[in-house]
Amino acid sequence: MEVRATDIIYVATFPRSGTTWTQEMVWLLLNDLDYAKAASLNLVDRYINVGISIWGLASRAKGAKILKFKEEDKRKYKQIITPGCELLAAASDPRFIKTHLPMCMLPPNLIETAKIVYVARDPRDVVVSLYHFYRLMPVPQFTGDFKTFWNMFVRDNVIRTPYFAHIKEAWELRNHPNMLFLFYEELKNDLSNTIKRTAKFFNKEYTDEQISVLCNHLNINNFRHNDSVSLNFLADVFIPGEEPFIRKGKVGGWRDYFDDEMTVECEQWMAKKLKETGIRFPVFSN
Ligand code: A3P
Repeated sequence: MEVRATDIIYVATFPRSGTTWTQEMVWLLLNDLDYAKAASLNLVDRYINVGISIWGLASRAKGAKILKFKEEDKRKYKQIITPGCELLAAASDPRFIKTHLPMCMLPPNLIETAKIVYVARDPRDVVVSLYHFYRLMPVPQFTGDFKTFWNMFVRDNVIRTPYFAHIKEAWELRNHPNMLFLFYEELKNDLSNTIKRTAKFFNKEYTDEQISVLCNHLNINNFRHNDSVSLNFLADVFIPGEEPFIRKGKVGGWRDYFDDEMTVECEQWMAKKLKETGIRFPVFSN
């Protein structure tokens, strides 16, 4: 893909780390808090999803499930069935781009050219969230239990893993002036200050009152009912009965899923990887 010298804004994450939440925050900060426009344009149409080109290209394979979309739905699912590289080439500036691809799979000149917002999240909450997401999606439509999923995740056998390598590549660039490195837990702990940091990164200024309105807009209780971000329009392709795309939005929800054996294995895995990579997750008292 070609990186343009101007107006490229990337939100990069390992899936289920708070991408959607951050995308909406960034888009609004860069669009003068135009809530009416945000409501009228689905987030999937406001950002080009680079990684989805994998799905888009796969959808062209003979017999691919995704090709079963009806003709009248092709517009609705344009972002999913069209490879991201084609959408990118056709897009006019400013381009808002989202990706789950790790830095090593993005163009090498990206960090010198574009602003990147990276969001990391505790892998234990990520794996629970990803488990539910992969049950919800027709591809890969995971049907096993959580422990099976965890065993696959920690051995890098789940699509999008390895988890720590993804974060490490962005972590190493965290002090670059074009990189804003955020943690999901930071957004949860103090959304208002995280918004202020993000606004500053983009040289934007808003009043405390405007930020307070944005906090309210981004609050999960409002967010889950916001049709322009919730992916509700995909309801007919999601697997019925599974938990929704905007799910619990909690820190530490993993405790309800991990048994003692998984907890110990995860502690050892995290200790080893954090030591190897130097990544430090923020610790909050509440
Ligand atoms: P859970 O499944 O733990 O609830 P992504 O957008 O990267 O796919 O991340 C999805 C995760 O972010 C889900 O986590 C989802 O519920 C959570 N999330 C989405 N919007 C949120 C919000 N406004 N506040 C807090 N968490 C949110």
